[in-house]
Amino acid sequence: SRIRHYKFTVVKKNTSKLCASKPIITVNGKFPGPTLYAREDDTVVVRVVNHVKDNVTFHWHGIRQLRTGWADGPAYITQCPIQTGQSYIYNFTLTGQRGTLLWHAHINWQRATVHGAIVILPKRGVPYPFPKPDKEEIIVFGEWWKSDVEMVINQAMKLGQPPNVSDAHTINGQTGPAPNCSSKGYTMYVESGKTYLLRIVNAAVNEELFFKIAGHQMTIVEVDATYTKPFRTDTIFIGPGQTTNALLKADRKIGNYQIAISPFMDTIVATDSQTATATLRYNGTLSAAASSPTTLTTMPSKNATKVTTNFMDSLRSLNSRKYPANVPKTIDHSLLLAIGVGVNPCGTCVNGSRVVADINNVTFVMPTTAILQAHYYNVSGVYTDDFPGNPPVPYNYTGSPPTNMQTTNGTKVYRLGYNSTVQIVLQGTAIIAPESHPTHLHGFNFYVVGKGIGNYDPKNDPKSFNLVDPIERNTISVPTGGWTAIRFRADNPGVWFLHCHLEIHTTWGLKMAFVVENGKGPNQSILPPPSDLPKC
Ligand code: C2O
Repeated sequence: SRIRHYKFTVVKKNTSKLCASKPIITVNGKFPGPTLYAREDDTVVVRVVNHVKDNVTFHWHGIRQLRTGWADGPAYITQCPIQTGQSYIYNFTLTGQRGTLLWHAHINWQRATVHGAIVILPKRGVPYPFPKPDKEEIIVFGEWWKSDVEMVINQAMKLGQPPNVSDAHTINGQTGPAPNCSSKGYTMYVESGKTYLLRIVNAAVNEELFFKIAGHQMTIVEVDATYTKPFRTDTIFIGPGQTTNALLKADRKIGNYQIAISPFMDTIVATDSQTATATLRYNGTLSAAASSPTTLTTMPSKNATKVTTNFMDSLRSLNSRKYPANVPKTIDHSLLLAIGVGVNPCGTCVNGSRVVADINNVTFVMPTTAILQAHYYNVSGVYTDDFPGNPPVPYNYTGSPPTNMQTTNGTKVYRLGYNSTVQIVLQGTAIIAPESHPTHLHGFNFYVVGKGIGNYDPKNDPKSFNLVDPIERNTISVPTGGWTAIRFRADNPGVWFLHCHLEIHTTWGLKMAFVVENGKGPNQSILPPPSDLPKC
């Protein structure tokens, strides 16, 4: 194993899209930011220097950070922000992980422009558990607002209303063929007969997305840096924070084929229907402009729940001898977390009410110092230990009208003993409308053992759980109007954030944290903080 050094200089950079230019926060002046490359078991050292007026933090989404929670990055959860002119070194080891992940800023809405891919190759000499691709291609999805992103969200919070939807989606930083602004859109070149490993990253802010390539099927081999049983599909469903590796064989007639992404949603809160396109071009093809027409693709409709269900149901852990699925069979902590978006009264808001989001009726309030520090140094008054493991009263989560409208504010955590096993049923609620929530847990991969529509039934639903080869991931879309059950082992001491990866839902309060205690044995405690850990 090696040590990989990176330097992330955070700078503003004027960037043009949709016929207009605006300064955005970037890493090293790039949008998307640089790709981190490493191998399994390598140590990654990223020196961040902040040259912008805003505070920054960086999160390495999906990297387990075993005993190194100080490098995990969510602002006020594991660290205080890196202030203007300051630097911080993120130092972590990629224990037992290989595949595609992403990094992104983890403060306010900065990840809109501050994100990039992480590629972890298998150890030298260890092959992929699928046929070796001829080449690899990274494909990163994003969202673009014409106005300043922090202004968009600050304005929305002031009014208590949903924010403006983005003005465009991007594929590798490009919005796609726009007739007026001569953006050609991203082009992926392929050679006829060759196989490509697509490393697909959804770094969008508020959108779960469909992804298609006209005329081509893909074979899914990995999600969230865990190998899957291969399956073929023409449509990929991917939530923000999720990653998907797919094999693409250039087996069609030489030509231009449209690549497209479009949003999935069946909610009244988001109204986006933007599509971004790119081109798959076989070598030897003239450009579309030079009269070789592009084969177009048709995208699923915005509320194509069937497509999302089919895709998610097809995902299974590889569960081979080499890559076994270690699903916890007995459970120490069983939690039911009702998650949703609702409204609270608000005197100063336009409609006299404010949109909020909650878990078990707690709207999480960010503390002013990092919870991990408070936990490590035993500082009281930063958070309370009483996060409810169950909703306050039994109610009809998915019916209407709902009973539990009013949320309470709090900075509450849920405590887990070292190495305890945990089951969480994430139950979507329908206070404003049933919505899909791509929920992300820091510090762990979890197994998705079950899901269903309607209210979770603790008596009968566990009977159909898959404890053999459930998919293992770090971010899971909780179905609209339904629930998802996940299991994991709390073998990573520290403070770990759980939140909806739709940034607007996080901002509204759909978030909480777990405190995982140190174990008693050797190598079961969180390591001491680095000396340059930022202060609040
Ligand atoms: Cu990718 Cu807490 O985030």
